[in-house]
Amino acid sequence: LEGVKGRHLMRIDDYCKEELEAILAFSRHLKDLVKAEKVPQALHGKSVACIFQKRSTRTRVSTETGMNLLGGSPLFLSSQDVQLGVNETIKDSALVLSRFNSLILARVFGHDTVHELAEHATVPVINALSDMHHPLQTLADFMTIQERFGPENVKGKTLAWVGDGNNVLHDLMLAAPPMGVNLRICTPEGYRPDAGIMKDTEALAQKFGTDIWVGADPIEGVAGCNIVVTDTWVSMGQEEEAAKRIKAFEGYEVNSELMSKGGAADDWIFMHCLPRHPEEVSDEVFYSDRSVVFDEAEARMYTVMAVMATQLGVTL
Ligand code: CP
Ligand code: NVA
Repeated sequence: LEGVKGRHLMRIDDYCKEELEAILAFSRHLKDLVKAEKVPQALHGKSVACIFQKRSTRTRVSTETGMNLLGGSPLFLSSQDVQLGVNETIKDSALVLSRFNSLILARVFGHDTVHELAEHATVPVINALSDMHHPLQTLADFMTIQERFGPENVKGKTLAWVGDGNNVLHDLMLAAPPMGVNLRICTPEGYRPDAGIMKDTEALAQKFGTDIWVGADPIEGVAGCNIVVTDTWVSMGQEEEAAKRIKAFEGYEVNSELMSKGGAADDWIFMHCLPRHPEEVSDEVFYSDRSVVFDEAEARMYTVMAVMATQLGVTL
């Protein structure tokens, strides 16, 4: 993990397979330390500037609480609080924040914004969700998958995505092949994942020998899957398209009828990054024993702690 020190995290494939595995192992170790109330104050004197251009519950709270547990200080900066691209260039903001803080974490609209922050910051920058990527979520998702199936049983599993080809999907796609996980990507025609990400995923799948299926029929989409994942059909910033989107995703609700018609594996689990809107999953599935959504939310804290600590060169 020494190699991760000082590096930005913009998208999940910034980590190679070995780094991904090591960050996840470290996250599981941090969870044990937190549960035992034995987390060393290893980041004492360090700070993370957290810029949020959009709302957040999990990302904000997991980062602030996780940084506090490690003895460091988080600073919450909403768009109303800081000059970021408004009244001051992103470059200047990055240079100034780097003088005060050990790390910068940013949730932005356009991916370019977090990229520009990283380009100019002299400290590591973490993408806390952009329109294109959500790498912290993917770490938590794979930690949860490891917990549910056992880390040694993840290879060979099949993950089906039923929903919008969005930011959360992009990073799951890029992490699945190195984790040995096959992909079934099911979206309406006009809501496919980004073509560039698809190409990168195909190259990774070839390298790691995993399968990818892409289609529009949810029943076919969940065939044989061990993990079914969805997300809201209306991401932050797309509120004006809500009515059109909800219509386009008709028939995409994850429910037990879909899962049995499609012939999912007996051990299938349900995942969702949250926040959940009512339409993309039935209550019956969302609150069932197959649903790991609250473990997944909890995992956000251990994984962001692992990212921040390793960027600062601290392993415990
Ligand atoms: N999953 C996730 O990123 O949630 P928040 O938007 O609440 O941070
Ligand atoms: N796709 C959602 C994820 C929220 C965590 C969004 O971008 O709003």
